Amino acid sequence: MLLKVLTLLLLCATLGWAKESYEGYKIYDVTARNNFEKQLLLRLANNVDYDFFEMPRALHAPARVMLMPKDQPGFESLLQRFNMEYLVVSENLARSLQQQQGERLMSSRATETRGISFTAFQRHADINAYLDSLAKAYPSRVSVKVAGQSYEKRDLKTITISNGDGRQGKNVIFLDAGIHAREWIAPAGALYVIYQLVENFVMYQDLLKDYDWVILPVVNPDGYEYSHSTTRMWRKTRKPVTSTCSGTDANRNFDFHWGEVGASSIACADTYKGSTAFSEPETQTVRDLLLELKGRGKFYLTLHSYGNYLLYPWGYTSDLPADWRNIDEVAKAGAAAIKKATGTKYTVGSSTNVLYAAAGGSDDYAYAMAKFPISITMELPAGGTGFDPTPAQILPMVSETWEGIHAMAKQVIDKY
Ligand code: ARG
Ligand code: ZN
Repeated sequence: MLLKVLTLLLLCATLGWAKESYEGYKIYDVTARNNFEKQLLLRLANNVDYDFFEMPRALHAPARVMLMPKDQPGFESLLQRFNMEYLVVSENLARSLQQQQGERLMSSRATETRGISFTAFQRHADINAYLDSLAKAYPSRVSVKVAGQSYEKRDLKTITISNGDGRQGKNVIFLDAGIHAREWIAPAGALYVIYQLVENFVMYQDLLKDYDWVILPVVNPDGYEYSHSTTRMWRKTRKPVTSTCSGTDANRNFDFHWGEVGASSIACADTYKGSTAFSEPETQTVRDLLLELKGRGKFYLTLHSYGNYLLYPWGYTSDLPADWRNIDEVAKAGAAAIKKATGTKYTVGSSTNVLYAAAGGSDDYAYAMAKFPISITMELPAGGTGFDPTPAQILPMVSETWEGIHAMAKQVIDKY
């Protein structure tokens, strides 16, 4: 008798534990837009296997429901048949839980998920692997594509982040970083944006409802790797120019008033404009991405370091574009959010007026040629001696940066 009870207890414990791993469980937010849809949801809520965390309430307020794997195909096809609006909030609850647990345990290895950490600067191969792992973990919301290759044949991967509602042709925020090799905090900042939008999706739903984000975290991986392996302060790309000098300043290589000012014709110079506009495969790739988004692309943001600037066109002249006030307003929202969060001050203005004139930049090109109405270069703060923040500085810097990016994106989304 005692043995039977013990066996039963053990069985219950085992079964209970197995169930609570939540392997393959999904969580959905489903929004009723009319009374018919609301009634349908209420009917579904009668199913004991559907765990409604939040019941259908008012119209347009999402209900949240958790389903075990076996119930998911039927549920999804029902929603699709009735054309209902839904989001997958967790692809696999087991993994979400593990991640949260991980986050709590991580004091020394702060914010490490899926192999990414913000306590060290990541190598390019690890960054690409991180993007791929996100696409694998969140197939309905994340996709990765190879947009081009660097001179040394590294893949230039973009990650596209959506809310998974399947709507095509949304407006787009395009973010890139790492045009300049040594500015390591910039790709880290882009990775942190990716991390927040993907892993903290529920919190930032408003940033993904009507917009998709396309992010190229390292524009210039050859230079980036070279700055890790050989010359820490390398800035340019790596394609040889003469027998003694390699590399072009990718941010002087875009074909808009190319080479007119603030760019060098000397191959060995750090601001070498290139043999022709778009002489570099890396800038060609950014060009193609930008032009492909013409019409949908509303906000182009490119991360650099350092100097605490939010810069906008023009970089080739001290004149201002006709609608500079719109861009100024967005940039100021970013600066204000950062000031509020940490007290860090940013200077806002046109590149030429607050920094220096330099033609052939990606920001001018995105604005003038790809018709992004908001185009901003963000110069993150200095760390260490300038380009080399210490490991302990990375997370505070990128999270502060995210505050600014969040505020700017919000402005753009509300207005465009
Ligand atoms: N520090 C950046 C650079 O020198 C600033 C770029 C600003 N934009 C521009 N079009 N000049 O590339
Ligand atoms: Zn730069």
